[in-house]
Amino acid sequence: MYRDTSSCNTYNYGDALYWDARYIQEGGSFDWYQRYSALRPFVRKYIRPSSRVLMVGCGNAVMSEDMIKDGYEDIMNIDISSVAIEMMRRKYEYIPQLKYMQMDVRDMSFFPDESFDSIIDKGTLDSLMCGTDAPISATQMLGEVSRLLKPGGVYMLITYGDPSVRMPHLIRPVYNWKTLLYIIPRPGFEKDEGCSSAKKSYLEPVPTTENGLLPPSFVLEDPDSHFIYVCRKTDETELIFTPTH
Ligand SMILES: C[S@@+](CC[C@H](N)C(=O)[O-])C[C@H]1O[C@@H](n2cnc3c(N)ncnc32)[C@H](O)[C@@H]1O
Repeated sequence: MYRDTSSCNTYNYGDALYWDARYIQEGGSFDWYQRYSALRPFVRKYIRPSSRVLMVGCGNAVMSEDMIKDGYEDIMNIDISSVAIEMMRRKYEYIPQLKYMQMDVRDMSFFPDESFDSIIDKGTLDSLMCGTDAPISATQMLGEVSRLLKPGGVYMLITYGDPSVRMPHLIRPVYNWKTLLYIIPRPGFEKDEGCSSAKKSYLEPVPTTENGLLPPSFVLEDPDSHFIYVCRKTDETELIFTPTH
């Protein structure tokens, strides 16, 4: 159910051994999907620089470094790969605002409840969705994300998964998340200037149905677009004091 394996190919992205082997072989750094420069408008809009941020499945991406250069003050990075974490810890030992810990995102019991203002996930839920027991792993991970977010906090999910395969995981009532959706083209995509939607801004949220899905008439400019889900954990007081006007 809700398992999207369309981009999993033959690699086992859900397996720590796969990632360790990959990081040993490749070294260096690599950012999946998008660089911080493209994501910056969304990050700055929803995450204050003074926030305590958790980057789940950081890999060897430079996103966290770029955020610190942009004024963010406190980013905890976790990854299941001890190889990636050791490399990153050594690389960034001169930046005290960046911390690295080896951890499985499905069990982050090291952190107390409501430890973070924001949690960023670029490609990590996607990896779990390619592993064995994908729906169970997704539920475990998102349960932990929900537990660790402060009320009013934001889980920002950057993924290749469109709402038909991601929203069923995000709309569980127990999370109390209000979700906005943005769609951005893959880097290097050139849009057809003659197309009627050429003036559409990527910085505006995309209208969705009541269940968070894309309306049937919606056409993706880039079929390989990336999706940004901004899930805000509803503050309990918002539920009690619903405005009447
Ligand atoms: C697609 S890569 C994305 C890396 C980085 N976020 C980026 O944007 O470039 C997915 C990352 O998730 C990590 N990962 C996979 N399963 C994990 C798990 N259960 N817990 C923590 N990290 C995991 C992998 O080691 C890998 O670094």
